Amino acid sequence: MSMIEKVKAKAKSDIKKIVLPEGDEERTVKAASILKAEGLAEPVLLGSPEKIKAAADKAGADITGIATEDPETSPIAAEYADALYEIRKNKGVTPEDAAKLVRDPMYYGIMMVKTGDADGLVSGAVHTTGDMLRPALQIIKTKPEMKVVSSSFLMDCPNKSLGEDGLLVYADCVVMPAPTAEELAYIAIAAADTAKRLCGFTEPRVAFLSFSSKGSAKHDSVNKIQQAVALAHELAPDLLLDGELQYDAAIVPEIGASKAPGSPVAGRANVLIFPDLQAGNIGYKITQRVGGADCFAVLQGLNMPCNDLSRGCSVEDIVNTVAMTAVQAQI
Ligand code: ACO
Repeated sequence: MSMIEKVKAKAKSDIKKIVLPEGDEERTVKAASILKAEGLAEPVLLGSPEKIKAAADKAGADITGIATEDPETSPIAAEYADALYEIRKNKGVTPEDAAKLVRDPMYYGIMMVKTGDADGLVSGAVHTTGDMLRPALQIIKTKPEMKVVSSSFLMDCPNKSLGEDGLLVYADCVVMPAPTAEELAYIAIAAADTAKRLCGFTEPRVAFLSFSSKGSAKHDSVNKIQQAVALAHELAPDLLLDGELQYDAAIVPEIGASKAPGSPVAGRANVLIFPDLQAGNIGYKITQRVGGADCFAVLQGLNMPCNDLSRGCSVEDIVNTVAMTAVQAQI
């Protein structure tokens, strides 16, 4: 069974309510019909009933029995506005601003999750990553034990000798453009948690990536990775981690043994921490496009699960992302 098949089986075992703010978008409506029919989640589509119906007709999707809510006319919006005002008043948001914001499906959906009226949210087929992330960061915020929100890409590679039966977890490839050493340490801890809870890794083995392996090169940017490793050791003493390591030293056993002898993870890492967003984003795309890996993205560190889609996403991508969000909501 592939990773995503396992995730779907888990999603079915305890069905979660996932809100889809882009409810009048054709791919989203089609995905909702599949999610409902396959019992993967209880989707809630946001938007005007007319637009949702028009999208469903166009997509040939049966949305019988799927809940819909219209933020423009919803009676609960006033309650969400009060709650939003309380959360953001110290950031200059007025009651009038809050009342206007909750009529925006993105904010309305985030408030559903915040108040427990939904278990998770998936958006981004239309919105940019920043548009989707900002309200989640402002309102849902980070888990108490986490300093930052970041992402993991689950890379299901054709070469099954890599990582965990071909599965590698890459972080961060979406959120933090220039993480500090401390932020990198937290990204690593969050990625190990994702590997364990979502991918079922019994032993996350975390490598902090660099162009240097264990002091083979000297540079300020390498010092930062070494600091991140030391901090991660302090923050999570039981986690198997090491760095700085070059990519090949992290995942190829012979190279790991020669460049980092005695390392607890070199050559067999299954969680790879990139030094910044440039490297992470480029790295996952190379693995996907040249390496032929299937990839699945999730946000981590948020207090409640919300996930982003690529605007080029397919119906299947939305279904997969909702299934992963549902599993995150079970934890
Ligand atoms: N973790 C936790 N909180 C955060 C984080 C974070 N990583 N980043 C920002 N915040 C908080 C801020 O502290 C702030 O909180 P406050 O308003 O309560 O004080 C709030 O979020 C908003 O912060 P801003 O500074 O207004 O937002 P910013 O302009 O920093 O944008 C964003 C944050 C959207 C995540 C930005 O860092 C970004 O655009 N990242 C890159 C996204 C991207 O384009 N990724 C690549 C494409 S995706 C792909 O290829 C799959």
